[in-house]
Amino acid sequence: MNKSFDIGLERLAGGTGFPIGANNAGAEIEAAGLDLLQGPVRGTFFLETFGCQMNDHDSEKVAGVLLSRGYRQVESPESASLILYNTCSIREKAAQKVFSRLGEFGVKQNEGRIIGVLGCVAQQEGEDIFERAPWVSLVCGSASYRKLPELLAQIEAGKQRVTGLDNDTDETFETEMTRRDNPWRAYLTIIEGCDKACSYCVVPYTRGPERSRASDAILREARQLAELGYTEVQLLGQTVNSYKDPTARRMRFSELLLAVADEPGIRRVRFTTSHPSDFTRDIVDAIDAQTKLCNHVHLPVQSGSTRVLRAMQRTYSREEYLEKIAMIRGAKRPISITTDIIVGFPGETDEDLAETLSLLEAVQYDGMFSFKYSPRPHTPSLAMSDAISEEEKSRRLAMLQEKQREIQAKKHAALVGETFEILVSGKSRRENQWSGHTACHRVINFSSQERALLGKYVRVGVTGATPNCLVGEQT
Ligand code: 5AD
Ligand code: SF4
Repeated sequence: MNKSFDIGLERLAGGTGFPIGANNAGAEIEAAGLDLLQGPVRGTFFLETFGCQMNDHDSEKVAGVLLSRGYRQVESPESASLILYNTCSIREKAAQKVFSRLGEFGVKQNEGRIIGVLGCVAQQEGEDIFERAPWVSLVCGSASYRKLPELLAQIEAGKQRVTGLDNDTDETFETEMTRRDNPWRAYLTIIEGCDKACSYCVVPYTRGPERSRASDAILREARQLAELGYTEVQLLGQTVNSYKDPTARRMRFSELLLAVADEPGIRRVRFTTSHPSDFTRDIVDAIDAQTKLCNHVHLPVQSGSTRVLRAMQRTYSREEYLEKIAMIRGAKRPISITTDIIVGFPGETDEDLAETLSLLEAVQYDGMFSFKYSPRPHTPSLAMSDAISEEEKSRRLAMLQEKQREIQAKKHAALVGETFEILVSGKSRRENQWSGHTACHRVINFSSQERALLGKYVRVGVTGATPNCLVGEQT
C-alpha cells in the first residue's frame, strides 16, 4: 500500500525510512528464477497498484499469472502492450486516481494497447467504466481474479470488452505463480472478502463475502516461501482473525499462526487486519508462547464513542473494545497496538470526538492511521443525514493527529537505550545508513559499518527518537 502511516509506523507493506527501490527488489526476484520463463514473449505489461496490502498482494498474483503466460513486466506504461491499474475505492480520493490515470491514457496515446481496470473501482463502477473511458478493454473486480487467465485469453483472441464482475463467489484467488515484490517479506492471503457490514465501508461490496483458504494450502505456501528464502511472512485478510478453516482439520486462527511459525526458515509471522469482535485470548496466548509471532496487533477501533460505533455497525462498544485492549496489554510480552480511526462520520458530535481522544489517551496506541469519513456508493451510511463539513472533518483530524503525535513522542523517547532485533529492509543513499523494522513493527533508521545488510537480522541499540521513528546504531 502506498499510503504511509499518519503518525509513525508505516503500513506493513513498504518502507518509509529509506527508499528501497522496486527495481532492486525485482532484480532479486528475477535472480530467484521467477522471471526466467522460457518461450516467446507474448507482450509486455505495466501494472500500477493503489490501496491496501491486499491489493499489493493481488497485484503480485496478477503479475505471476501474466508472467506465466509469457508476458514480461515493464516499468512504464509507454513501453507496455497491456496496461493494468489495480484500484482502490475505500475513499473517494483513492477512487478518483484511476480516472486521472485513464485520462492520461486517452484515445490518442492508447494506440494498439490494451488497458484494464482491476480491483475495487472495477467492481464498484462495473461496465460504466467503458462509458467513461471507452479505450478500456478489461474491467475485473478482485472477487473474479480466478477468471483472469480466461479473460486474458478472450482479449488475446481480439474481444474488445471483457468483464469479470461476479462477487458471489465462494472461491479464492489461487495462482500457480506469484511474483513477489519484496525479497524478504512475503504476503500470504488466508481469507478473502468480508462478512462484516460496517455502514461506511465498500469492501463487502467490492471484495464479496468472506472465503477462508484451506489450512493445508496455506501451510504449503508458507513452506514454499521459506524454501525460497523469505524469512518474514505476513498473513493477510480484511478480517484476518475471522479465519475459519474449511478443511476437516478446523484449525483455529491462533493454531494456524503457530503452525506457520513452525515452518523451518520462517523467523517472523505477522498478520493484519484484526477485527476486535473476533480477537480472542488464544491469539494473545500464541504470541506469548511463540516469539516468532510478531508482538504487534493492528486493531482498528474507528471511533471511541459507543454511539458512533453503533451507527457504524461495528459490533462492539467502547467498553468491549477496551476489554480486548486490556487482554492484549495483559500479555507476558509487550505487544504494540496500532489502529485506524475515522473522523467526521455523519452525526459525530464534539462529545463523540472527545471520547475518541480520551480513548487514545486510555489505549496509548503505538501508531494510528486516521481518515476523514468519505461517503461511498453501495454503503448504508451514504443515506445518513447530518453530514459533517470537510472543513470540520479536517479540524477534527488535526486534533486527533496532534494527540497521537504527543503519545508517540513520549512512547518513543522511553525506548532510547533499548535494543531491538531488526530485519534490515532499506539502505540510505547516505553512507552506512540503513533502516528496518522491529518485530513490534517500529521503523528504526540506524548506522552500521557493515556492507551487505539488506535482508539480514541485526541488533540495534536505540540512541534517539522522533514521533515517527527511532534512530539507532548496530550493536
Ligand atoms: N471513509 C473513511 N475511511 C474509511 N475506511 C474505510 N471506509 C472508509 C470511508 N468510507 C478506513 C477504515 C478502515 C481503513 C482501511 O479505511 O478506518 O479500517
Ligand atoms: Fe470494511 Fe468493516 Fe469489513 Fe473492515 S470489517 S473490511 S471496515 S466492512
